[in-house]
Amino acid sequence: MLTISLSTENLLSQNVDCYAYIVEKGFDVTQLTHATKDVCPDLAAVIKHREFSGNLQEIVSVPCIVEGRIAFCIVVGMGGQDSKGIGATERYRRALGQLVKEVRACKGKSLAFDCAVPLLDNAVHEYCAEQAVITIKTAYYHFDDYITEKARKENILTQVILVTDLHHKEEVQRGINHGIIIGDAVNQARHWIDMPPSDLTPQHIVAKAHDVAKRNNLKYTTFNEKEIIKMGMGGLAAVSRGSDVDCALIILEHKASSRNAPTLCFVGKGITFDSGGLSLKPAESMETMKEDMSGAAAVISAIDALAQLNVDVNIVAIAPTSENLPSGHATKPGDIVTFYNGKTAEIKNTDAEGRLILADALSYAVKHYKPDAIVDLATLTGACAYALGPIYSGLFSEHEELSEKLHAAADLSGDRLWRMPMGEDYKKAITSTVADICNIGSKQIRAGGTTAAHFLQNFVGDTAWAHIDIAGTAFDVPNISYFRPGGTGVGVRLLVSLAMNWNK
Ligand code: BES
Ligand code: MN
Ligand code: ZN
Repeated sequence: MLTISLSTENLLSQNVDCYAYIVEKGFDVTQLTHATKDVCPDLAAVIKHREFSGNLQEIVSVPCIVEGRIAFCIVVGMGGQDSKGIGATERYRRALGQLVKEVRACKGKSLAFDCAVPLLDNAVHEYCAEQAVITIKTAYYHFDDYITEKARKENILTQVILVTDLHHKEEVQRGINHGIIIGDAVNQARHWIDMPPSDLTPQHIVAKAHDVAKRNNLKYTTFNEKEIIKMGMGGLAAVSRGSDVDCALIILEHKASSRNAPTLCFVGKGITFDSGGLSLKPAESMETMKEDMSGAAAVISAIDALAQLNVDVNIVAIAPTSENLPSGHATKPGDIVTFYNGKTAEIKNTDAEGRLILADALSYAVKHYKPDAIVDLATLTGACAYALGPIYSGLFSEHEELSEKLHAAADLSGDRLWRMPMGEDYKKAITSTVADICNIGSKQIRAGGTTAAHFLQNFVGDTAWAHIDIAGTAFDVPNISYFRPGGTGVGVRLLVSLAMNWNK
């Protein structure tokens, strides 16, 4: 357990084993070493010797003895304006990620720091504290449920104290409270993503969603495979046919307190393992395909956080979930399916399964909720992952206002987005000679992320809608200090920020 609390007492008077200072490039060394000289007289000499100047992720930690026990003074750099393209908040997050790694290396169990140091472009204290807590939680995350060797279990941080002045106490406390909720939701999503696919089947996701609903008093609906077939959800049913376990459609609802509050639908792809089906993936591409339920994990965890934050917006989280496996019962290339909204599609490639399950879920959202906006999150295409890499998720939308709101949420939350093209010229790519549309794009048009988005567009009518392709950002994101191999929980921070700021 990691407890995070606030103190208005002096940083160096805290009873912890790591004292940290987060500094911008060009910080005042004398001021810092003056403040710490009684506790850590060697800090000035070490900073000088290492030529530490506060560059991004530069770090020094100096051991000292405080009241007879060992402690560390840690100074971590967050760089400056010249850290190209990386905004102040993201530099702050990365510095904190580096800090948590250093605390781990020092075998530290408790940490105190002043969260308002970041001169985050005059950001308010509440936001600084919230971002600090989310990032510390994220950096603290580890997945060792299946490791038996004691030596490989991590020594873990148990206490973090954010120090602030009396004047900002309430703001910072609110930031901490929000940060804990959001950070836990991100880590919950990551935990589900990291679980082995045979231990996290669609039925397990149903059970996890049920837990979330019970904990937060959410309305909860789930349809099993039989019901899905009966309701005419031919896409979800077709994907699940090759699997021995049942698919499901999960719906969680949070009710706003205001009567006329808007309604947002979040739809997340929940393929618990994507082998490709009969259009089997090569071994290497299949290795990480337990990640293919990251969208579902994100929408369920986002509504979990938003319910706890008591957001004054109606939220509906919808997760279609299935395995995609080959077998004698599996859907074949050439098969034609009919979706919940009555449209038909030719399945030319059973590995383009995400759009098939999302088609039914989006149709369901439109028909039953008439939402003010729908955002879907899906590990949908390798094409998008190649185009944007692991840093930006692809934003596909023809709705300007929703796209702007999403960009603002991306900037605030750190789940970054890059707008991708849509439009008439690409629509032609998914025509079929035997059905309304085809589940793969034509070879000439190629733009695989965009043609997948156009497929989905057939199921949202005229609802304001955005599709976010997280194929590149959901798993194994390298070089970001607060992540490690495995799930990232991408989308949780984004959706929480979108909903929390929706009425503004
Ligand atoms: N789940 C994959 C997409 C994916 C790729 C996610 C890499 C994460 C990392 C998706 O179901 C898929 O297989 N897409 C195909 C579509 C193609 C057959 C049109 C792809 O991208 O190759
Ligand atoms: Mn696939
Ligand atoms: Zn997939």
